[in-house]
Amino acid sequence: MTRVLIINGPNLGRLGVREPEIYGADTHDDLVAVVGEWGSALGLDVEVRQSDDEATLVGWLHEAADARTHVVLNPAAFTHYSYALRDAAAQVTSAGLTLIEVHLSNPHARESFRHHSTISGVATGTIAGLGFTSYHLALEAIRVSRLED
Ligand code: DQA
Repeated sequence: MTRVLIINGPNLGRLGVREPEIYGADTHDDLVAVVGEWGSALGLDVEVRQSDDEATLVGWLHEAADARTHVVLNPAAFTHYSYALRDAAAQVTSAGLTLIEVHLSNPHARESFRHHSTISGVATGTIAGLGFTSYHLALEAIRVSRLED
């Protein structure tokens, strides 16, 4: 079964209480539950992890590259300034794996500092602005692009 690691960056563990007018009322546990259902329906073995720590996120990307695991990455605020995360994400895609960058909100419709992503240039693709549906479409994209695996 195709394995997918969903990696969520800083403050995403606070979903439900964090700026619900932007990120919605559902919690990170709700996200874990629903992506598990979507993964099962798509025939994907999905694991979700969340950390506020840049080094931990980098380590998980190394692990995914070495274990040949596709990645759905919401780098959260690190999107906008972390070259370390970019370099780690590049190791996933340069290994021939799929890495989809996702965002709940649409960063391009928000403050200007959110308009630049260090990750997009090394990601397979980016899906943003659709709430939890961004993750659903990322899983669909991995399933479709990996049918030949
Ligand atoms: C986010 C967008 C980022 O700009 C922000 O820092 C986040 C969440 C999103 O999912 O919409 O923490 O990645």
